[in-house]
Amino acid sequence: MADLAGAFAASHGPLLIREWEAVPPEQKLRLGNAFRALGERIAAARPDVLVVVSPDHWSNFFLDNVPAVCIGVGESNEGPPEPWMKAFPHRELPAHPGFAQHLVREAMKQGFESSVSHRLKLDHGVCIPLWRMGLERLPRIVPMIVNSIEPPLPTLSRCMAWGRQLAGAIRSYPEDLRIAVLATGGLSHSIGEPTMGAIYEDFDRETIRRFASPERELITYLEEQLPSHGNGSEEVRNWLVAHGAAGAQGFELVDYLPVPKVIVGCGFAAWRVAA
Ligand SMILES: [Fe+2]
Repeated sequence: MADLAGAFAASHGPLLIREWEAVPPEQKLRLGNAFRALGERIAAARPDVLVVVSPDHWSNFFLDNVPAVCIGVGESNEGPPEPWMKAFPHRELPAHPGFAQHLVREAMKQGFESSVSHRLKLDHGVCIPLWRMGLERLPRIVPMIVNSIEPPLPTLSRCMAWGRQLAGAIRSYPEDLRIAVLATGGLSHSIGEPTMGAIYEDFDRETIRRFASPERELITYLEEQLPSHGNGSEEVRNWLVAHGAAGAQGFELVDYLPVPKVIVGCGFAAWRVAA
């Protein structure tokens, strides 16, 4: 049987690559350390498969077709399409169609319909954390794309419930595999709207604190607060998927720092999961 080997989260943002050299040295050091610390935890969890929960940034889907959830069920997926990601060291990222199809089937039985793709482009949302974490050997990557970009967005409760579905599918997968979850995105940032560039540190810190609250309180807080804290904060949905997968017991904060040069409140988290 498969085991949930761990659940993790890291922020992403194009400027973590594009403006990396312009980040003040102290923040660059701390960001680099946070990404690597998360990478070390993932390596220590020894996952065979890493389910990466990320939005799609118009790389696969556009206004004519925006699925709420899309799971990559193919043999492999493509490296990032963004020209400024061309130095990312993987053009082809092997996946795990057996587990991915199992996840889709098991979720469907519970009334969680997902779209599927046999070939996804894994954009910066997936690949920046993988890159910055410096994993020597990538596990097989099963992408789970959750729309947190273009309304209507899946509800926060639904994202938590998807996390529980994911954990259930891991437990019921018959192969002896270690499967970890990496959520990417958030915390506060604002892209292409009048508040572009804003970081809401108080909101970020309170959000981190609220992950230790009962589920209903966490969700009510986020439902009230997300609309006024930058459109990028909606990506916290992916953290909710990881939170639900890990049993919603709260996470260990690896680090948090607002980084104006990359216009993201950067958070890094590791959930406790039962051995
Ligand atoms: Fe994003």
